[in-house]
This record gives sequence, C-alpha cells and structure tokens, in this order.
Amino acid sequence: MAISAVARQAEPFVLERAAGRRAEREKGTKAMTRSAILGVGSYVPSRVVTNDDLAKLMTTSDEWIFQRTGIKERRFIEHSGIGASDLAVPAAKAAMDEIDAIVFATLSPDFNFPGSGCLLGDKLGMAGKPALDVRNQCSGFLYGLSVADAWIRAGMYERVLVVGSEVHSTGIEFNDRGRDVAVLFGDGAGAVVIGRSRDDEHGLLSMCLHADGSAAKVLWLELPASAYVPRLPPEMMAEGRHYPRMNGKQVFRWATEKMPEVALEALGKANLNISDVDLFVPHQANMRINQLVAWRLEIPEEKVLHNIEKFGNTTAATIPMALDRAFKEDRIHAGSVVLFAAFGAGFTWAAGVVKF
Ligand code: ACO
Repeated sequence: MAISAVARQAEPFVLERAAGRRAEREKGTKAMTRSAILGVGSYVPSRVVTNDDLAKLMTTSDEWIFQRTGIKERRFIEHSGIGASDLAVPAAKAAMDEIDAIVFATLSPDFNFPGSGCLLGDKLGMAGKPALDVRNQCSGFLYGLSVADAWIRAGMYERVLVVGSEVHSTGIEFNDRGRDVAVLFGDGAGAVVIGRSRDDEHGLLSMCLHADGSAAKVLWLELPASAYVPRLPPEMMAEGRHYPRMNGKQVFRWATEKMPEVALEALGKANLNISDVDLFVPHQANMRINQLVAWRLEIPEEKVLHNIEKFGNTTAATIPMALDRAFKEDRIHAGSVVLFAAFGAGFTWAAGVVKF
C-alpha cells in the first residue's frame, strides 16, 4: 500500500485552520491558550504478513493469535535498509504544514544515535529546525504530543510535527522462543501537526502522563546496553537478550487497570464525563485489552476505534495511525470529543482529550 491518502480527513483540519486564522484576525489578538491537531497522516509498508505466514516460522496459529489479540495481519518493511525515519517521511508529508520543530516518538530508532527526528528533518529538508526523540514506547506518541502542546502554548513554536514511527520486524525473534512477542508487532508510521487552537473551547483539553520504572523488566529490550562491556556481550546474545522480552500476563493486568484510570483522570481534568466522549482511540496492543478497558469505562463498542486486526501493535505509531483511520472513516467531525489512552513498556501510561 502506498501513502495513506489524506484527502478526506484533511478537510476538517483545513477548515479548522482557516477558522482559527479568521478568528485570530477578527479578534485582533493572537494568543489562544490551547493547541490543536491541524493535520494527520499515516503510512504502512506494502508487505502484508498474515498469521499463517508467521505459523510457517514458529509454532503458532491464526486461531491462537486472533483469539488472544484480535490480530489477523501486520505490515513489515519490504527489505533491509528502511528505518523508522523512512516510514515517517510519507506520514509526515501527508500531515504537513509549515513545520517549526519535530518530535519523533519511537522505540525502534533507525540507529542508536543520532535520533530519528534528526534523520527525518534531513529527509524533509528541514536543516536547522529542532528535532527531539521521545523514547516512551506505546505511550510515546502521547508523551510527544504533550511536549508539542507545551511548546505551542508557551509560544515557542507555531507548528510542531509529532511523529510515531516503528520498524519492529527487524528486531523480533521469529521462532518459538520469541513467539509471544513476535505475533504482536507490526511496522508503520503516523504523524500529526500541532498548532494553535482556533479558540479555548477546542483543541487539546487535557493530557495526563505517568511512569513506573519498577516494572521496567516486565517488558524490555536489554541489549545493546551501556551498562555492559561490551554492549552486546556474545553470551547474552546467544540467550536472545537482544530481542524484546515480555511477561504478557502482567502487561495485560497493568494495562487494563491503568488505561481506564488515566482516561478518567484526563476526562476529569477536561471537566468532561464518559458520556461526552464521541470516540475512544486507545493504543492497539491487544483487542481484548481495549475491549476490557472500554467495558470498565462504560464506553459503548461503537465509540471505540480498533485497527489492530490489520496492523498489529505499531507502538508509538498506533494512535496517529488510528486517528488517520478515524478521519478516513468519517468518525470525527467539528465538535467531536476524542479520548486517547495508551499503556506500554516502562511502564508508561498516558491519556489525552481533544475537542475537534
Ligand atoms: N502461539 C501459540 N502459543 C503461544 C504463543 C504463540 N504466539 N505465545 C505464547 N504461547 C503459549 C505459551 O507458551 C503458553 O504455553 P504453555 O501454557 O504451554 O506454557 C500458552 O501459549 C499461554 O501463554 P500465555 O502467555 O499464558 O497466554 P496469554 O493468554 O496471556 O496471552 C498474550 C499472551 C497475547 C501475549 C497476552 O498476555 C497479552 O496480550 N498481553 C499483553 C501484551 C502486550 O500488550 N504487550 C505489548 C505492550 S506494548 C509496548 O509497550 C511495547
């Protein structure tokens, strides 16, 4: 598949932008105290990998994967040499306006350093513009959004590109030892552009962030590690410690507890209730996690966005990819209240409320 088209979803943003600028002119004032999402785009590589494809590499089955996770297929990069910043280029171009700064959320940066934000800036011809990498895994996009929001509200920048992009397929162990993790992840990218809201009633109404490093080793990728000499000890690599390791049950338990908690916190901060939510866009780690979270929040199924079936868990890319899909499916309109919530390695968890 090529670049995720933005024709349909771009329209409300163009309108919002125009309305915002008109409101500023009419008021003769500049500052609004809120930021808003002004554009969105996404991109996935063309290579579709089904559960049956994975079953050829490890002892698993379409039935096992689908029943426990809701995943049917995912996308993988077509060949070696494509990094997170490469996937981000078409997503960013689809979302783009005139950009002053980049926030790049990823757990699979192209290289250990420099950050993928610098690489993306170069690929977009943005020499000299600041670029910041955020390393908060599945919560990375919401953490990045909070940084962009603060920059906009502080008047530091006018337009900030917030990207979530992941290439997982080059870092997964495709055998029985890694099968619990291998079946979950896919490659992809999503991006939004953040700028000033047209008024105080619309835009990013609240954002709540949390972390608890005591659970760091429940879901982690140990190597390469600056704590070890050498950073890639051969005996540890022989044990597969350069692949992600996870206690799935613990992740499941924490995610289904923390996501509802932080979602309610964000709604409370925005002075809203569950009944005010028009669309819930949770991180897509597991369909069963999201169903349980929605049930605990008493959000009806028709207000919950799922895209895990086709893309798996794309970590930091997931929420902007899902948002792009929501616009394509015409599920967000002027005035829609959208609730985001995420949980991931760290542990980290976050939620935000946006009124479009
Ligand atoms: N195919 C077939 N069998 C498998 C697979 C597989 N892919 N993976 C594990 N199994 C086996 C296990 O070995 C185990 O076998 P055993 O009973 O003989 O020991 C059996 O299936 C059951 O394993 P469990 O781990 O108990 O399965 P569970 O029902 O907990 O489901 C799952 C596993 C799907 C991973 C679930 O725990 C989950 O989704 N957890 C959340 C994970 C998650 O969201 N992680 C990403 C966070 S995102 C981030 O920040 C990076």
